[in-house]
Amino acid sequence: MEKKLDKIIDSISNEIKDLTSINDLNQLKGKYLGRKSVFNDLMKELKNVPKEEKPKFGLLINQAKQNIAKMLEDAKTNIEAKMIEAKLKSETIDVTLPGKTFNAGSKHLISQVIEEVEDIFLGLGYTVKEGPEVETDLYNFEMLNLPKDHPARDMQDSLYISEEKLMRTHTSPVQVRSLLENTKQEPMKIICPGKVYRKDDDDQTHSHQFTQIEALVVDKKTTLADLKGTLLFLARKLFGEEREIRLRPSYFPFTEPSVEVDVSCYKCNGKGCSMCKGTGWIEILGAGMVNNNVLEAAGFDSNTYQGFALGMGVERIAILKYGIDDIRAFYTNDLRFNKQF
Ligand code: PHE
Repeated sequence: MEKKLDKIIDSISNEIKDLTSINDLNQLKGKYLGRKSVFNDLMKELKNVPKEEKPKFGLLINQAKQNIAKMLEDAKTNIEAKMIEAKLKSETIDVTLPGKTFNAGSKHLISQVIEEVEDIFLGLGYTVKEGPEVETDLYNFEMLNLPKDHPARDMQDSLYISEEKLMRTHTSPVQVRSLLENTKQEPMKIICPGKVYRKDDDDQTHSHQFTQIEALVVDKKTTLADLKGTLLFLARKLFGEEREIRLRPSYFPFTEPSVEVDVSCYKCNGKGCSMCKGTGWIEILGAGMVNNNVLEAAGFDSNTYQGFALGMGVERIAILKYGIDDIRAFYTNDLRFNKQF
């Protein structure tokens, strides 16, 4: 009987070694401790054992059973630990692997230049105003001193939507809107960035849609000297502190007098090079003192109020600053171009 018990213990310790799953373990448990286990035969044999030896063998069998139960319990802990280990291993993250890179977007050059100009003017106490891109003929032309038959309308080939509505050809109608809004006629300093449209065929230097920034100052004492100071400040902020400006007489219906503004060439410092076509100067924008007719049309008394306005092409500024040779590059969204800035 003792030998048989030893044999049982031997065989289970052998089988237990190869266990890999809880399922197998449960089967083994059935085999050794279940209702039809190997111990059943032993119990039958116990009947034939002399009466005085029965307690001894009963005790041995019980001990063996307890032993087995303990072995199975240990095996279970072991298997569970191994399973956790395997799971952890399969789920390990290798923190040294290179990460996934995302394509982070960046601001378009046009937006960057708009923000740069906005920063310059915000620093001077201006506020930013916006207006609609579909404008009325009244605000885009008439109230800017361009009546219906005015020849200067030809300066800006317009895209009309109806008799009275058009895609705005410049940001100047925001001047009109802002003057009309200012019913208390308080001193005003505004800039208006935005898209404008012209009936142009697109080529290297023309686009049917481009971007302008307009500035308008109206107060009781606003002079050409104020305009000149503002232009010099702007030109130096944009093109370098060593720059000078030059004002040439020009014509815009909404300003009088009107000027064309040149900046001294930042490439040759005014000596003359291919950039400035040998002149030492580069044209950057148009400006002037607000025409009395514009002030009056918006209800401002031109004997009391004066103002100046300027309008620049954002693409032109960007082209000059960054040496871009084709305006279409701004709109074709070639990432190789966009990413350079
Ligand atoms: N609106 C003018 C244009 O588009 C530019 C400009 C604005 C000129 C303000 C003078 C004053 O050509």
